[in-house]
Amino acid sequence: MIKITDVRKQNFEAIPIDSFWNVGDERELKMHRIHAYPAKFPAFLTTKALEFAETQGLCPEKIADIFCGCGTVAYEARRNNMGFWGCDINPVATLIAKAKSSDYKEKRLEEYYAIILDVYSKQTINKRIFTKANDRLKYWYFEEQYLDLYRLKSSIYASVPKRSKYLPFFLCAFSNILKPTSKWLTKSIKPQVDPNKEPANVLSAFAEQFKLMVKASNESSIADTPEIKIETTDFLATRQKKPTVDMIITSPPYVTSYEYADLHQLSSLWLDFADDYRDLRQGSIGSLHHDYNFDREVKRLNRSGMSIVFNLLDRDKSKAKSVAKYFLDIQKTTQECHSMLSENGMALFVIGNTEYKGIRMDNARHLAESLFDCGFKDVLVTKRKITGKILTPYRTENGCFTSNKSGKKIYSEEFIIVGKK
Ligand SMILES: C[S@@+](CC[C@H](N)C(=O)[O-])C[C@H]1O[C@@H](n2cnc3c(N)ncnc32)[C@H](O)[C@@H]1O
Repeated sequence: MIKITDVRKQNFEAIPIDSFWNVGDERELKMHRIHAYPAKFPAFLTTKALEFAETQGLCPEKIADIFCGCGTVAYEARRNNMGFWGCDINPVATLIAKAKSSDYKEKRLEEYYAIILDVYSKQTINKRIFTKANDRLKYWYFEEQYLDLYRLKSSIYASVPKRSKYLPFFLCAFSNILKPTSKWLTKSIKPQVDPNKEPANVLSAFAEQFKLMVKASNESSIADTPEIKIETTDFLATRQKKPTVDMIITSPPYVTSYEYADLHQLSSLWLDFADDYRDLRQGSIGSLHHDYNFDREVKRLNRSGMSIVFNLLDRDKSKAKSVAKYFLDIQKTTQECHSMLSENGMALFVIGNTEYKGIRMDNARHLAESLFDCGFKDVLVTKRKITGKILTPYRTENGCFTSNKSGKKIYSEEFIIVGKK
């Protein structure tokens, strides 16, 4: 790790890769694969972060992931017998995170599963339900799969008590079969219909998913762990009360990358998180949809943010506004992190630089400067190589994500940035 003394003079690109952060020392547990989630980071980064904290004399009892996504850090905290607090604005993310970090008894899971199947077999569904369905869902499903999913969802709700920790388990299983049973192009994380797809059978997909999740749950069963709390909320919402923690391990959303709400529309609509999935874009950091006063707020940008935004203004004003909003949100994020940490606490961020229309989005420098500005005593930085990235790793000329190899390669490395309070 390099200790930064002057952000403006620091050449971030020249920072060498530290192989310590590149790969994990053990196989990733199945629990981390129970549900697809874009931008999930590898679980071993949590282990590495905790090892690193120890070298700095920090033995955290309670950790947080303020953008907890599908609960990678939450689950690892549980495995390490640590208290955890996490939040994410996306209800699909927190559903997965809750399912991952709860302790389940196999016998109970099997009992609920049998009841669900029994209820399902006895249910009759009126075909008119499809005619009355949400238009967006009708767009994604054939009638047969839609009706089977509808029946399965009502069977789950009829079988598992509302307040039971077992409900997120079964809803998470349901959520992860929504894509294979739909017309959504299998290999794409983006919403795209595959006209040639034969959607999977609902009950078979559910059975397979259930088996996988039971196996995952048995792989690492830990009882009596300290408190794990996961909230569905906007981290930057001013009324949001946050706990004090010893360490934050997180990966912020990327600058204007993709709309998480759009990627999870099937789950959001099926699970009634929204009538219109686009409503869930609101407040999501990095979204292109926002409402704020650019002329007034832009003055709050730090120097690194300001220079990127002003470079962009000439080429793409609307993009410049979105990027400015992103940087402002990240600045607020670092302030909130600072106030959440206990004395001598530490915040560790995993973040990558990107490029748009030839302009470097120096997210790492911007974040490091933000950490200094809000009072972190020391800021340390290193770089890691990304291996096995499941996302589309290229960008087109216009900066859009693509898997076309002629595009510009991105994210082959990313930064680990640490702020010490
Ligand atoms: C890079 S992902 C984190 C992935 C996570 N590390 C994992 O392994 O699943 C960033 C997350 O930030 C969330 N997010 C975006 N804006 C947010 C906000 N205002 N408050 C809380 N979470 C937010 C997104 O929904 C997304 O899940």
